[in-house]
Amino acid sequence: MTKIALITGANKGIGFEIARLLAEQGVTAIIGARDEERGRAAGERLGLPHVRIDVTDEAVVAAAAKWVGQEYGRLDILVNNAGIAGSLDATVPSATPARALREIYETNVFGVVTVTNAMLPLLRASEAGRIVNMSSELGSLTLAMDRSTPYWDANYITYNSSKSALNMVTVSYAKELIDTPIKVNAANPGYCATDLNAHTGFRTAEQGAAIAVRLATLGADGPTGAYLEDDGDIPW
Ligand SMILES: NC(=O)c1ccc[n+]([C@@H]2O[C@H](COP(=O)([O-])OP(=O)(O)OC[C@H]3O[C@@H](n4cnc5c(N)ncnc54)[C@H](OP(=O)(O)O)[C@@H]3O)[C@@H](O)[C@H]2O)c1
Repeated sequence: MTKIALITGANKGIGFEIARLLAEQGVTAIIGARDEERGRAAGERLGLPHVRIDVTDEAVVAAAAKWVGQEYGRLDILVNNAGIAGSLDATVPSATPARALREIYETNVFGVVTVTNAMLPLLRASEAGRIVNMSSELGSLTLAMDRSTPYWDANYITYNSSKSALNMVTVSYAKELIDTPIKVNAANPGYCATDLNAHTGFRTAEQGAAIAVRLATLGADGPTGAYLEDDGDIPW
């Protein structure tokens, strides 16, 4: 049976590549995009369906879930990929207003919870649901405190703490769903050249997509509640 996947923020960047690579494996990968036209254009490029989904808008997310249910009756894979970085100017935490965190969290944390809750009934209707949350190595508390790594200096309280929170969100859902076939994992794509970082990354979006695709297609013996990159676990 053809698997059905929804990837949020799939009109460009890593999400687009996740959709493309899943489609190569025969998955019906639905392009989630907050902008109808950008979603349609990406869907047409890949020959894939698209749905409008702004992860910060509960009504729009609910409408997207309703559409997926009506169209496919279930969801096998949810990739919570949509994310924003905001300004990564080296603003010290003490000079960063709480509203800057709130803005990032709306998309990177609360958006994931909104989408996951809306899609869970459809994932439960799958024989083997998979949820992949696009985290970042910048969310690792262990790496952040390691002076020998570049993460020591990358002290972005807004983005980094949103991804640390997302890691705990991942673990929380994995625990709730531990006795179901649904697996929930966090992926680190590495530093990829996309619009998110003005294309300063040294990996391609396709390389970044690979770990998400792996976690989206895990077998029954795969992990849940894990934080993974290409080379294996990364420290929380
Ligand atoms: N690039 C990296 O080096 C890197 C490293 C670690 C983790 N990540 C994570 O990987 C994910 C993808 O990032 P990327 O590098 O591919 O960034 P990107 O090229 O900027 O793409 C981000 C995508 O998210 C969408 N998006 C933003 N806010 C949204 C919202 N409220 N609702 C729905 N979609 C929304 C964007 O839509 P629009 O086109 O409409 O703006 C776009 O499709 C993010 O979660 C990011 O934090 C990236």
